[in-house]
Amino acid sequence: MSQARGDNVLLSEKDFKFICEFVYEHTGIVLGASKREMVYRRLSRIIRERDFDSFTQYCQLLRTDPKGEMDYFVNSITTNLTSFFRENHHFEYLTNTELPKLLKNKKDKKIRIWCSASSTGEEPYSIAMTVVDSMSEKLSNWDVKILATDIDSNVLTKGSEGIYPDKDDLMPAEFKKRFFSSGTGQNNKLIKAKSSIRNLITFKQLNLLHEWPMKGPFDVIFCRNVIIYFDKETQNDLFIRFYELLTPGGLLILGHSENLGKCQQHFENIGRTIFRKPV
Ligand SMILES: C[S@@+](CC[C@H](N)C(=O)[O-])C[C@H]1O[C@@H](n2cnc3c(N)ncnc32)[C@H](O)[C@@H]1O
Repeated sequence: MSQARGDNVLLSEKDFKFICEFVYEHTGIVLGASKREMVYRRLSRIIRERDFDSFTQYCQLLRTDPKGEMDYFVNSITTNLTSFFRENHHFEYLTNTELPKLLKNKKDKKIRIWCSASSTGEEPYSIAMTVVDSMSEKLSNWDVKILATDIDSNVLTKGSEGIYPDKDDLMPAEFKKRFFSSGTGQNNKLIKAKSSIRNLITFKQLNLLHEWPMKGPFDVIFCRNVIIYFDKETQNDLFIRFYELLTPGGLLILGHSENLGKCQQHFENIGRTIFRKPV
């Protein structure tokens, strides 16, 4: 198929190729031929909303003003699927093993956690709930900070608002009651994260491909379900950079279908997609 058709705009082979290269260069995300319909769906919304005549016209704008268009474009192209306590065994590991260990060993009473593809916030809020629940009254004597970053500015706005549609199966009922307040009136189907967890988290825009302004070291880095979109070279570069930013003994946590590939040699595999930087 050389062209995809929808409404009355066509996505030519040439424009699709340009978009794939542009996405790879600016986000690291690899888009193969199988993603053509997805690209078409996501970008034709931009074409409609902004009254472009064609994909070619939009590609021209990306060429001439990549900076000005970057946020809007990237926000349209990213996949942000996430949920509270997704891959719960990682949070169980924090509760049962890592947080007790940090509480016992860290003389400076500082805990630093980086959630490096935080999407709409469910992951960093799950980390925050786990921390508050595990540390209970000890928390007031400790300096705990969770940095939540993502390339997509829309999801970061949602994350920092901390407002979610209420559903029964969002998270354990006890956690929802303890850490979220329910909306009233026209907001009665929404819940909002309470300050007890919000105050632990800072949301910031960060492209994993770019320079990272923070110096670390981090005790735990979550990088879940994002490197799956990158090629091996980008993945390896990131693993080395995570390694450098982790404290000796710190954890790198990946998503369920992700692995460290040849960088495995630098880490100990201590659980399902949980890796420790040796001390
Ligand atoms: C599928 S979500 C995963 C969310 C969460 N970590 C989880 O496992 O539930 C992937 C996230 O990675 C972000 N992302 C994609 N490329 C990125 C990049 N180059 N730098 C930072 N974040 C990126 C997307 O915006 C998206 O929110």
